[in-house]
Amino acid sequence: MSEEAPHLELKIPNHIAVIMDGNGRWAAARGMPRMVGHRAGTENLRRIITACVEFGVKYLTIYAFSTENWGRPQEEVDGLMNILAQVIEQELAELHQEGVQLRHIGRLERLEPSLRQKVEAAVEMTRDNQRLVLSVAWNYGGRDEIVCAIRDMIRAGVPAEAVTEETVSQHLFTAGIPDPDLIIRTSGEMRISNFLIWQAAYSEWYVTPTLWPDFDKEALRSALEDYSKRDRRFGRLSKCFEDNAAHAGKPA
Ligand code: IPE
Ligand code: IPE
Ligand code: MG
Repeated sequence: MSEEAPHLELKIPNHIAVIMDGNGRWAAARGMPRMVGHRAGTENLRRIITACVEFGVKYLTIYAFSTENWGRPQEEVDGLMNILAQVIEQELAELHQEGVQLRHIGRLERLEPSLRQKVEAAVEMTRDNQRLVLSVAWNYGGRDEIVCAIRDMIRAGVPAEAVTEETVSQHLFTAGIPDPDLIIRTSGEMRISNFLIWQAAYSEWYVTPTLWPDFDKEALRSALEDYSKRDRRFGRLSKCFEDNAAHAGKPA
């Protein structure tokens, strides 16, 4: 089997965002409780983080708990909160060693104080790491993020005429993180589910029927191969990028 050729042609997105969907269906297909799927999904996440580091991805953003997921049965919500605590306890040291910078996007207010402290400590501990910036969307909603940004700008006294797209971006939870180049959604659903609704303006989408616990490094490679063939025009014509390639530094 030739490993070389696809490797050489891969365009690696600077920022990949993932809607990790399908844990419940993965478990149901095996006659198991939904939490078994969430645990399998968490193990897979660990593998995908490593794969992203190996592929040279600089930013990875994962959708792990939405503002709407509070509407699930209490037992599942509690189970997911426990998983977050466990992941931080068990994986933080190794992630830190691998040079992963952890960020949180969303709101921490609604979390148990002890969990909130764990998240804040993990972010603080890894803040200077540069190899991969891993943003965990937890109690995250794109609309909520925009509401927070508007409130923030009003509180800061930003005058109406000073509000630009740049100003809004700087007040989002993702301030300082470039927009995602590629958004992957597993389990086949063709919707955004309130994820990065501002930042996704010109992201490329890749939807696969594979359920999240089964989305392995090879599946990620397939997504990258597909992405490598895309012609990103940003509303312009490919020719404009060819003409400007030498000095613009924009993605071709
Ligand atoms: C994604 O898997 C994980 C979370 C939303 C927390 P789901 O739990 O949504 O799995 P399905 O979509 O029910 O299969
Ligand atoms: C999106 O998946 C949220 C996460 C992956 C955390 P959902 O399963 O909650 O989305 P819907 O309900 O199918 O739109
Ligand atoms: Mg789902």
